[in-house]
Amino acid sequence: MRCIESFRYRAILFVTLLQINNVVHSKITEKDLSKSILDFTIGFSRHHSSPDIVGRRSLVWSPLSLYEAMLMVGEGADGNTFNELQHITHLQNKESYREWSLSFLNDVKKNFKDIQRYNISLNIANRLYADNDFNLDDEFNKNLEKYYQSQLELINFDKAQLSADHINQWISNQTNNIIKNVLKASDIHPMTRLMIVNALHFKAPWAKAFDSDLTTKENFTLSTGRLIQLQTMHLVSHFSYYYDKKHKSQWINIPYKGNNRYVLTLALPDKDIELRVLEKKLLRNSKILSNIFNSLDNRTNVNTRVQLSLPKFRIESSLDFVQHFKKYYNVKIPFDADKADFSLMSSGSARDLFISKIIHKAVIDVDEAGTEAAAVTVVQMLSRSGMFLHEDPVQLTFSRPFLFYLRDINIKVPLFIGRFTGMSMP
Ligand SMILES: *[C@@H]1O[C@H](CO)[C@@H](O)[C@H](O)[C@H]1NC(C)=O
Ligand SMILES: *[C@@H]1O[C@H](CO)[C@@H](O)[C@H](O)[C@H]1NC(C)=O
Ligand SMILES: *[C@@H]1O[C@H](CO)[C@@H](O)[C@H](O)[C@H]1NC(C)=O
Ligand SMILES: *[C@@H]1O[C@H](CO)[C@@H](O)[C@H](O)[C@H]1NC(C)=O
Repeated sequence: MRCIESFRYRAILFVTLLQINNVVHSKITEKDLSKSILDFTIGFSRHHSSPDIVGRRSLVWSPLSLYEAMLMVGEGADGNTFNELQHITHLQNKESYREWSLSFLNDVKKNFKDIQRYNISLNIANRLYADNDFNLDDEFNKNLEKYYQSQLELINFDKAQLSADHINQWISNQTNNIIKNVLKASDIHPMTRLMIVNALHFKAPWAKAFDSDLTTKENFTLSTGRLIQLQTMHLVSHFSYYYDKKHKSQWINIPYKGNNRYVLTLALPDKDIELRVLEKKLLRNSKILSNIFNSLDNRTNVNTRVQLSLPKFRIESSLDFVQHFKKYYNVKIPFDADKADFSLMSSGSARDLFISKIIHKAVIDVDEAGTEAAAVTVVQMLSRSGMFLHEDPVQLTFSRPFLFYLRDINIKVPLFIGRFTGMSMP
């Protein structure tokens, strides 16, 4: 799990997100909604420290998937355990948890027809697996069903291989077979009582596809200075493009089909700036990213003609968030067998459960046609007894490491974020 290290200071990037513009059925104001995720971001940035070698590796993760799973976990937490989770969720009470989740899920539903019309696939699903022998609290389950559209399934965790296979199959199905075999038999502790799972799948064609006949092998300079050759796609078109003088970086929104709602935002630092230096600057203050996104997303601005060269890439990352939350959020109680209070999850109100694992896996695949990405977050709860005309095009060549943010620009939710460095995970 060396990726955790890299995460240390990349994750922060994690965007500035979430100014929800058109939230339905919610008392939560736009400002409140964006605030919680913004604060989540800042939480990470406080802790980035040492220059890490591992940070040179490509990375992808899904803020949305992780956030949704942590809200479900919070539903079942009480006392100090719930209070500590505020460091992660930045929401103060369960009403806010529920409103956040419902607002998001309702927006996805409302958007469904558009999504289908443009051959976009966006699936987000929550599921609760409970051991047969566990006295699940009925109200906890009803709240998950009502506010998180979660479904319950009973399972026998004593049979480690069978239950791993079974959950893996659901995850695979929900993610269009992109994420397979997340859980191994050895991940299923015999004292597992609950597994809280979020699965997310996104697939969309570009608004304007790259012509695969134009794809050629091009040089790509790794941060180490070494030259490698990558299959690189080429396209000349008009895009929302922005050169950020202050941070010496070029930014572009590459839109997917459908009302310009989903975009892949890419950031390329100038030649003399290392990617991690840019990342660090962006993270210093969450306003920086949100200002850049706001100017990119502003539809009244005139698009720029860009000659775009972008490598095809596929990134797959696995992260263990228990370590991350402990180390950088100073959140400990939910993971402490003796102190955790998830009594709202069990009918006997017994303080028997604690979080033993938060497994997060994400994949992104970018090619001439579009993007497919998926993520899953599995939280294991154990019992303690166990962007006109003919101006010259701007040259934008992604021939060195860059950042990406797959975003819903209507509601400012980051679906996936990461970096491509040309170096894969070990
Ligand atoms: C959606 O996919 C179908 C089948 O692949 C295709 O015929 C149709 O043209 C696509 N629609 C759009 C808007 O891309
Ligand atoms: C896979 O998902 C589809 C729709 O989401 C569902 O109809 C089907 O039953 C699922 N299959 C399995 C094996 O879960
Ligand atoms: C790639 O880099 C090599 C070595 O610097 C150089 O000789 C070659 O011309 C470059 N190829 C392209 C397509 O720029
Ligand atoms: C978009 O840009 C226009 C002109 O640059 C500006 O007047 C407007 O305030 C911007 N809108 C937003 C939402 O930032």
